[in-house]
Formats: sequence, structure tokens, C-alpha cells
Amino acid sequence: MSQVVLSEIHGRVGLIRINRPEAMNALNDAVVSGIAAAVDAFEADENIGCIVLTGNEKAFAAGADISVMKQAEFDYMHAYKTDFITARWERIKTARKPVIAAVAGYALGGGCEFAMMCDMIYAADNAKFGQPEVKIGTLPGAGGTQRLPRAIGKAKAMDMCLTGRLMDATEAEQAGLVARIYPAEQLLEETLKAAQTIAGFSLPVLMMTKEAVNRAFESSLNEGLLFERRVFHASFGLEDQKEGMNAFAEKRKAVFKNR
Ligand code: CAA
Repeated sequence: MSQVVLSEIHGRVGLIRINRPEAMNALNDAVVSGIAAAVDAFEADENIGCIVLTGNEKAFAAGADISVMKQAEFDYMHAYKTDFITARWERIKTARKPVIAAVAGYALGGGCEFAMMCDMIYAADNAKFGQPEVKIGTLPGAGGTQRLPRAIGKAKAMDMCLTGRLMDATEAEQAGLVARIYPAEQLLEETLKAAQTIAGFSLPVLMMTKEAVNRAFESSLNEGLLFERRVFHASFGLEDQKEGMNAFAEKRKAVFKNR
């Protein structure tokens, strides 16, 4: 049996590929556990500064695996007892290193939700996003009803969740779901390039920055500003802060030591 999740290292970037092409990369236990294990490994590896999650050219992921959820024994008690979604799906969200979703083709249901759990989405021009759960008798269950309105506003999020319609890459970028669009054949190369740039910066600064930006979604403006001020002050305790500023003054490239 082929591995449903592949991981590779490109310089300081850890690449995770979802690999179930025969099922449009539908997310079953093996895929979700595989992604979580790859995130665990890259988080523990001090030579990795950024993580990229991708699928293939046809699908990032077409959602949770319907063939599993449709089974009679997959009932309320099963979903509740196994803590369906929460247990391992959210490992990507708890990653402290930056995570970029490189999305080509379909990112539907749990696939769209997985992409939204990453720190940002770079899309191929053939990307299609959607929360079509309404068409199969359920609703988004991995954050879609919460993260999509925060990303694109209530009007479009409600439209997508209630009609199940798909959004193309251009609309997704204009709406604020996607940070960049590339021609499909360049998506991975360009994403890895950007990830490599990110991974070249000071890791503690990246982690502090990510934490601070995420606060914008989880607190009031005042609380968020206070948090930002505290981590900004904390950055003056880093060797990398002195190195970055000295390198600027000396007109040379900074050599960060991640401390
Ligand atoms: N689960 C299981 N299998 C899936 C799947 C999914 N989510 N999506 C696609 N597949 C399978 C298909 O069953 C098909 O398998 P067979 O060849 O064995 O029949 C194979 O992938 C190829 O799919 P299609 O033949 O349908 O390909 P297409 O190009 O005609 O359509 C598609 C592609 C638009 C993505 C279509 O497959 C589709 O609509 N998929 C379902 C999307 C969906 O409803 N996602 C939400 C799932 S629920 C969820 O995610 C809940 C949550 O919030 C966590």
C-alpha cells in the first residue's frame, strides 16, 4: 500500500504531501495521523524553519472521507467518543513554526478547513475552495463556519456554506482567503522559495510573530496590542535581534542563530 502522506526536506523547509490521488486526497484517519506525525517531526527538528502542506495538481483535499462517515456505525456516539476532528486534525493549527498551505485543485470541506488551519494559503490558478457539506446532509465540522467568516466576511461565508458553491482562486484572493496565486505548474516551486525565505529568518522571531498575528483573531484589539507589545519587548532579549540590526548597520547579511 502506498503511503498516504509523504514528507520531504528542502533546505530548511519541511514539505508534507497528501497522497491519496485515487480519492481526491480525502482525509481519512491515516492521512490525518500522517500529517500530524510529519508536523511533530518537523516541529522537533531544529533545522526546519517553515512547513509547507500540499496535495497534488487536482486536489489539495476534497474533504473528510465520505466513504467512512457514511457507514451506519459512524453515529453520534462514535463521533463523540472518538472526538472526531479534534483529536489529531488540529495538530496543524498548534504548530509553532509557520505553515503554508500550497493549494492546487480542490480544497473542499475538511480540505478547505485544513488549508485555513495553516498560517496562509498560496493557491494555484486552478484552485477551487468550498464548504459543500450542506449537499451531503451535514455542515462544516473542522472550523469552516468559524474561520471562513473571519477570512472572507459573513456574506460570502454564509453564501458558500448555505449553497455549497465553490470559489475560484481569483475570488478567493480578492476575498482575503488566499495570500498569493501562481500558475499551477509554478505553485510548489514558488511556495518552497517563499518558505525558504521565511525559514532563513530567526525562528523565535517567526514564532513570536505568528503568535502575535493569531492573537488578532482571538482577543480584543487592546488585549492583542498588549500581547504584541510584550513579545516585541521580548525580542530585545534575542541575540538574533542584535545580529539583525548590527548586520543592517554594517551593510551585510544577518546570520541568525535562532536564539
Ligand atoms: N471522500 C471520499 N472519497 C472522495 C471524496 C471524499 N470527500 N471526494 C472525492 N472522492 C473520491 C470519489 O468517490 C471518487 O472515487 P471513485 O473513483 O472510487 O468513485 C474519486 O475520489 C474521484 O472523485 P470524482 O469521480 O467525484 O471526481 P470529479 O472530478 O468528478 O469530482 C469533486 C471531484 C468535485 C472533488 C467531487 O469528488 C466531490 O464533490 N467530492 C466530495 C466533496 C465534499 O463533499 N467534501 C466534503 C466532505 S464532508 C467534510 O469534509 C466534513 C468536514 O467539515 C470535516
